[in-house]
Amino acid sequence: MRTILRVEDLLVEFPTPHGQVRAVNGVTFQLATGERLGIVGESGSGKSMTLLTIMGLTPPPGRIRRGEVWFKERNLLEASPQELRQMRGRHIAMIFQDPMTTLNPVFRVGEQIRESLRVHQYLGEERVPASRRKALEKQRVLRLMAEVGIPAPEERYEAYPHEFSGGMQQRAMIAIALSCDPEVILADEPTTALDVTVQAQIMRLLDQINRQRGTAIVLVTHDLHLATEFCDRILVMYAGQIVEQGPTEAVIRHPKHPYTQGLLGALPEIRPEKTPLMPIPGEIDLAHLPPGCPFAPRCHRAMEACSTPPALLEVEENHQVRCFLYGGLA
Ligand SMILES: Nc1ncnc2c1ncn2[C@@H]1O[C@H](COP(=O)(O)OP(=O)(O)O)[C@@H](O)[C@H]1O
Ligand SMILES: [Mg+2]
Repeated sequence: MRTILRVEDLLVEFPTPHGQVRAVNGVTFQLATGERLGIVGESGSGKSMTLLTIMGLTPPPGRIRRGEVWFKERNLLEASPQELRQMRGRHIAMIFQDPMTTLNPVFRVGEQIRESLRVHQYLGEERVPASRRKALEKQRVLRLMAEVGIPAPEERYEAYPHEFSGGMQQRAMIAIALSCDPEVILADEPTTALDVTVQAQIMRLLDQINRQRGTAIVLVTHDLHLATEFCDRILVMYAGQIVEQGPTEAVIRHPKHPYTQGLLGALPEIRPEKTPLMPIPGEIDLAHLPPGCPFAPRCHRAMEACSTPPALLEVEENHQVRCFLYGGLA
């Protein structure tokens, strides 16, 4: 399969009272056309910052210190702000946990979706008369609203975001993301704020989009169970680094990194046989990471070697882990 998005050695730092912290610390991965990739890890592991940086939206005072983000043949980190704006939406779209980061409360939902179409899709199409163009755009918006499962689109077109339920707002945000038929959707915890039933509906919608349109989807979530149900492949992040990655089956059947084992062990539904049900003590503190493996202070398998940083090594086909338990010792 063709690679559509490639992130190379991305490093994003934030200044803090304790010095610079590396929110994203040397992340490398690829996304294939139409693939569903999951990025999982606890809160604070750098998932959102990775997605935002791909989109050219690293929030200040964060700084990109190193790396490349290739969309097809273009390194986005070298693109002009104008080019990036065109990339966003047209080729890569992002959806968020809170739809109100995308929706504007004072405009009608249908008009917001139409605006997004207009900005990207019909840019420069001067030959269609304005009156006709508006009608065409509205038709397209109504089709999109139906596609994302908003009932009675004609009526809902005129509604304001606050008249929508949380699930319907989420669908409207997804309609905006789809308005220009992007090749990649970056979804950052898209269902975390929703109740279980609505969460399942939104995941079905993303599934349908992936199957019918062939859109590649990066699903960022702290919910490993959700990722294993949806994704072809999973990256596990810890303290800004990828600590394990592989096909979903391999990661859940044979988790290698003690951190992944801990995450899986906390999930009775998919806990691999013989994995002890053992919560991971402590939390990530980026400002006080040890010199070696960042997980070592919380790891029940930590050994002397872990005071130097382990490399990401292949343990079976396409399955990689950053842990001295599987080699890499000097
Ligand atoms: N505005 C900010 N100022 C300082 N540090 C930040 C800021 N935003 C994020 N960070 C740092 O980046 C780390 C990763 O954040 P984030 O990517 O949002 O994590 P995740 O999405 O995995 O929960 C955080 O643990 C925090 O240390
Ligand atoms: Mg996040």
